[in-house]
Amino acid sequence: MRRLRQLNFNTIYEAAGGASAIRDLVERFYPKVQEHPLLAPLFPEDIRPVMEKQVQFLTQFFGGPSLYSDAHGHPMMRARHMRFPITQERAEAWLDCMRRALAETELSEELQAIMLDRLSGPAFHFMNS
Ligand code: HEM
Repeated sequence: MRRLRQLNFNTIYEAAGGASAIRDLVERFYPKVQEHPLLAPLFPEDIRPVMEKQVQFLTQFFGGPSLYSDAHGHPMMRARHMRFPITQERAEAWLDCMRRALAETELSEELQAIMLDRLSGPAFHFMNS
């Protein structure tokens, strides 16, 4: 978190601008997922419930209030992804959709890089196929 402290914020959530910034990012992210040939087939047509869970999860993942755990219990995110075949190509595709979603926001390039970096660990950790 040294890089964040240099930006004078305690959490990524705060540095990004809080609730509205997380929602904005998620709203930009899922259309890209739904258009991606490797990712789209894994997701339901009605993406809204997934988006709502992702807003809750990223809020807490980036240091905001624990919305996901409060609503759904322990995240156990790797376990929750086990029923989907997640290959290295899919992890890279997911991250690339996130990179492009971040690039559309007003967030500084430095903060975008920090956020993508924080998501890379879990993305590759969820690989199971
Ligand atoms: C590595 C590539 C990834 C793939 C292919 C993937 C795919 C999926 C799929 C198919 C779902 C379920 C959609 C449904 O409910 O039917 C899902 C749910 C979810 N994913 Fe991922 N995901 C990936 C990475 C990540 C990462 C890196 C995060 C966050 C760090 C994340 C967070 C979530 C959350 C919060 C949910 C909702 C979980 C719930 O049902 O409560 N995913 N993902």
